[in-house]
Amino acid sequence: MKVLLINGSPRKSGNTYTALAEIAKQLSKHDIKSEILWVGNKAVRGCIACGQCKSNGDKRCVFGDYDICNEVISKMGECDAIIIGAPVYWGQPASQALAIQQRMLYAGGGNFQGKPAAAVCICRRGGATAAFQTLQMPFQMCNMPLIGSQYWNIAYGREEGEVSKDIEGLQTMRTLANNMAWMLKKIHDVNTTDTPERETWTPMHFIR
Ligand SMILES: Cc1cc2nc3c(=O)[nH]c(=O)nc-3n(C[C@H](O)[C@H](O)[C@H](O)COP(=O)(O)O)c2cc1C
Repeated sequence: MKVLLINGSPRKSGNTYTALAEIAKQLSKHDIKSEILWVGNKAVRGCIACGQCKSNGDKRCVFGDYDICNEVISKMGECDAIIIGAPVYWGQPASQALAIQQRMLYAGGGNFQGKPAAAVCICRRGGATAAFQTLQMPFQMCNMPLIGSQYWNIAYGREEGEVSKDIEGLQTMRTLANNMAWMLKKIHDVNTTDTPERETWTPMHFIR
């Protein structure tokens, strides 16, 4: 089984990457493969409603050669689940992440239908819950079961790598991976426990 992880930050090794890497590491403990695909730092087009992806029937976006959209669609033909991660920009997911998500689901929806999905958002201080909900919404209308964690799938940090100091945030990522692994095993009829693995909660409050 394999989970595709989308790093929707223009910073390749930023906090979104660090959070996704924590998920990947935890998934591997459950013998589940993963791959982190970076959105890049070049222009990403939004959907222009041209309808070409529907008329040619090959699940490809016309802008797909310029960014990772078509790569995501074809990789999802082989993957069993997807997690999209994005930094919070102005209280919403970074626009590159949103553009890829909207186009990949519109053009390649059939490769996503029914597969578990999760959103992950990273921010300095605020707006993460709104951004998280925004990224969850498209999955909810593609028959994709949403995977949560012990908290919303959120972690905090500003400069690259700072999210490593968010002890609870990284635990939230590992719990998300545990829940994803458990769900995939249930769906694919692989022998597993009755409930997902749980760590002892490591809370980390803003006021300390
Ligand atoms: C244009 C822009 C807007 C941002 N808006 C917010 C925001 O609304 N709330 C917040 O807490 N952090 C905001 N940030 C900070 C980023 O969310 C934060 O640095 C995050 O860790 C970046 O993730 P990355 O390292 O994966 O790129 C913003 C950063 C940028 C560049």
